[in-house]
Amino acid sequence: MLPEDSFIEFGRLMAANRSIRRFDPAVKVTPETLRALVGLTRYCASGRNLQPLRYRMVSTPEECAALFPHLLWAGYYQDWDGPAEGERPAAYLVQCLDTRLAQDCLCDDGLQLEAITLGARTLGLGSCIIKAFNAPEAAKALHLPEYMKPRYILALGAPAEQVEIVGTDGSLEADIRYYRTPDGTHHVPKRPLDELLID
Ligand SMILES: Cc1cc2nc3c(=O)[nH]c(=O)nc-3n(C[C@H](O)[C@H](O)[C@H](O)COP(=O)(O)O)c2cc1C
Repeated sequence: MLPEDSFIEFGRLMAANRSIRRFDPAVKVTPETLRALVGLTRYCASGRNLQPLRYRMVSTPEECAALFPHLLWAGYYQDWDGPAEGERPAAYLVQCLDTRLAQDCLCDDGLQLEAITLGARTLGLGSCIIKAFNAPEAAKALHLPEYMKPRYILALGAPAEQVEIVGTDGSLEADIRYYRTPDGTHHVPKRPLDELLID
């Protein structure tokens, strides 16, 4: 028997946890908040229980500015170079693999990113997981030691854009590219549940 209310509540949180790429820079994300978000990852499952991931907190304007040029945003938006000045993330978490502990992390990285982004959402923050970044340049900008290999960068801040989930038509060829409507709303297509289940 499912505890129905908490399941529905959890589903709402999942649905609200959309990628956000434009932020209100007036709302700061403190090191304490970043630290608390990283704290959630301690409860994530970990392959071989190695727990080899580490986080570099980035929250000063100087470090945010040093990191930003090395990030790529919204690959489907060919004519958009990412958030303009005045709508950029207030902070970042740079997820790194400590290669002294392991050379791979199986799916620990994704599990931890989901935990952090969900936690951020409960605090009213938005986030965007970024894989398309220049890892050597990002590492240099943050003076990361050689053995810390950046895997993902998580942008964080107070959301300053509307995001809506839309359904696809359920075909295999369905267009899953997100798009913006003239009012600036970002629409993100999700496949129907029935398409996810193998007969
Ligand atoms: C593994 C992974 C890598 C991603 N890399 C980027 C990226 O480099 N830049 C970006 O703007 N968004 C990136 N995203 C965000 C995806 O574009 C986003 O999750 C997708 O469009 C669905 O939107 P949603 O997160 O709101 O469901 C990434 C997401 C994941 C899970």
